[in-house]
Amino acid sequence: MNKLASILLIIATCVLVSSCRKSGCTNPNAVNYSASAKVDDGSCICLSASAATPYNLKIPASFQRFLPPPVFPVDNPMTVEGVALGKKLFFDKRLSDDLSLACASCHLPSQSFDDTSRFSVGINGIAGTRNAMPLFNHAWNITNKFFWDGRAVGLEEQALEPVTNVIEMHDTWINVTSKISSDATYRTMFTNAFGSLPIDSNLITKAIAQYERTLISGNTRIDAYSLRLIGLTPSELSGLNLFMDENGADCFHCHGDVTNPLWTDNSFRNNGLDSVFADSGLASITGNPIDVGKFKTPSLRNLIYTAPYMHDGRFSTLDEVIDHYSEGLVNSPSIDVDMKNISTNGARLTSQEKSDLKAFLLALTDTTFVTAH
Ligand code: HEC
Ligand code: HEC
Repeated sequence: MNKLASILLIIATCVLVSSCRKSGCTNPNAVNYSASAKVDDGSCICLSASAATPYNLKIPASFQRFLPPPVFPVDNPMTVEGVALGKKLFFDKRLSDDLSLACASCHLPSQSFDDTSRFSVGINGIAGTRNAMPLFNHAWNITNKFFWDGRAVGLEEQALEPVTNVIEMHDTWINVTSKISSDATYRTMFTNAFGSLPIDSNLITKAIAQYERTLISGNTRIDAYSLRLIGLTPSELSGLNLFMDENGADCFHCHGDVTNPLWTDNSFRNNGLDSVFADSGLASITGNPIDVGKFKTPSLRNLIYTAPYMHDGRFSTLDEVIDHYSEGLVNSPSIDVDMKNISTNGARLTSQEKSDLKAFLLALTDTTFVTAH
């Protein structure tokens, strides 16, 4: 009996001691941190390398005055190394199957990160059905929804799609990861930005998203006007007044005003383009009939570079867009409540009013943005 008791005691002690000495990763900042590990076995994997330098985002004065600071995902803080890596990836054609297309091929810096065609053409020469979108000020997109129909939540998730989209870059993430991993420069850059993890789609999209958050357009005549640094021309000022007037052109409900330097509310609306929609927009994601024909309200910055206009690029010029809002509105069950002139098919602007409205819209042109990247 005594012998049995002492054997049991020895076994219990061994279990206790070995659990006390359980080895694993003991660094609480590591992704594989083990709370029960007492002995560090050197297996820790740290996502944000402590060596990476925090990135100091340059926020325009008008944004500082009117907008709260941007909020970043906690698992993807911006670093100098991450942004440099994201930029290299954004311009790298190895993200496409036949090495012919980079993100920047459809999002050209000189076009405010948009392209000039109605429908962008992917690697197989097939065109999509939607107009490419310009990229700027996405760090302030409080809905965090991307694409015309809002199907991607967050810039990281958005960047997953073009690579595998069959009518865009038409590659696989396994293939792209192996192309990028075989490049020694990339291996160093990933290590510097994120630590020593293997390169994968998660880190590639994180780096691209960091770069995209540095694309900030906030230097236009209207920004200077909102800060009381300059006055506007009489025509621009009349245009702004029409924009802000419910009995005038009535644009501000969706596209914002001088206290919202994004010039969009980033919400999804039906602005009266069709009575029956070939592309159902937001409803293709939500399945809700009330969302048919709702698309993301675009920013009105840099319109001079982003033609053609609307989700399907149906309008080639700003004059056509203004004519739409003046006399071309079409009713449908999901028309937005803020399309207040729907019963008269539009605001019925005079030609002078149209040209003033256009002068105001063109004062939202940021020439420094298109040359800065
Ligand atoms: C073949 C052309 C093409 C390529 C290549 C491409 N895009 Fe796009 N991009 C588009 C089009 C078209 C849309 C709108 C599609 C939609 O709404 O369905 C879009 C939308 C976006 C948006 C949404 C913007 C917003 O305001 O919601 C982001 C962000 C974006 N692209 C980033 C990227 C990144 C990052 C890459 C590279 C990984 C990339 N794109 C590659 C054509 C392209
Ligand atoms: C009810 C909300 C709403 C109102 C009011 C409104 N818009 Fe829009 N606007 C939108 C939406 C949504 C789109 C995108 C629609 C689409 O592509 O299907 C858009 C698109 C545009 C575009 C095209 C931008 C691009 O990059 O394709 C311009 C320019 C524009 N609006 C200017 C105006 C002007 C000027 C007014 C006032 C006369 C106005 N909008 C009133 C919601 C609105």
